[in-house]
Amino acid sequence: MPILGINYEKCTECASCEDACPRGFFERSEEKGRMVFQDPKRQCALCGQCIAQCPEDAIIYKNMGESFSFDGVEKPETIVSYESILNFMKAQRSIRHYKNEKVSREVLKKVLVAMQFAPTAQNNRSENYLVLSDEEKLKALSDAVEKELLMNPATKAIYADSFAISEKRYKIPIYFDAPHVIFVSSGLNIQNEDNTIGIIVTYGRLAAQTLGLGTCWNGWTQFAMSLNPKLRDLVGIRGEKIGVFTMGYPDVTYYRTSPRIMKPVKGLE
Ligand SMILES: Cc1cc2nc3c(=O)[nH]c(=O)nc-3n(C[C@H](O)[C@H](O)[C@H](O)COP(=O)(O)O)c2cc1C
Repeated sequence: MPILGINYEKCTECASCEDACPRGFFERSEEKGRMVFQDPKRQCALCGQCIAQCPEDAIIYKNMGESFSFDGVEKPETIVSYESILNFMKAQRSIRHYKNEKVSREVLKKVLVAMQFAPTAQNNRSENYLVLSDEEKLKALSDAVEKELLMNPATKAIYADSFAISEKRYKIPIYFDAPHVIFVSSGLNIQNEDNTIGIIVTYGRLAAQTLGLGTCWNGWTQFAMSLNPKLRDLVGIRGEKIGVFTMGYPDVTYYRTSPRIMKPVKGLE
């Protein structure tokens, strides 16, 4: 049981844990005269809200990783302004031109760490990660994805033009010769798992951008792997829910954002 209980030497009985727990596993015991943690059915989601909200750091836990305290954690709006993050998001582009330069392990790890701070449905944390940097394997997968999507008349009609351009420009057309392709996969077959994978990819892409890296989501691979699960074996990933993006140093400069027409928002008109 990763939440082991309460450190009563630190606990001030403020009951923040009781308010924090979405499943109601903390309560004041009249018999013991203090707050207690009770999860008889072992359904704690390990969300860590109790740990994060306890002012005294009095929740005892193990095997849940590390909890961090830093300037701004109590007021995240002081870490980054709306204007800064909006401009940062506006500046994100799908990068389809990369420098012929590998990203160091240290920098790759930074991106992969950020991805693991993404929320996951039910806090399931069922995802697995793979960074693929082997050119031969990337070429084999690129060829297989292209073949799969050109085999079917419906997908051929959508993708043939893009693939023809990529063929002319790159040795590894589906991945734009990016030095790295990141895979997130999960075998958990719940509907929300697609959302979870998408959010993890988005965290990774935004984190990558802070490090001077460019990325492009690769729905082609996701689609081809859903049509033909054997493609997953080429790179050794398991699970039906898959997120894929290319990553490397961009070999392209943007002078302005792409335009976006703002949608009318019902309720705000
Ligand atoms: C879920 C998803 C899948 C995508 N798949 C691909 C893809 O397979 N190949 C590609 O070149 N771009 C892909 N894109 C990038 C979109 O085409 C791109 O986001 C869109 O054209 C807007 O351009 P921007 O990202 O530069 O703003 C994907 C984007 C998303 C959100």
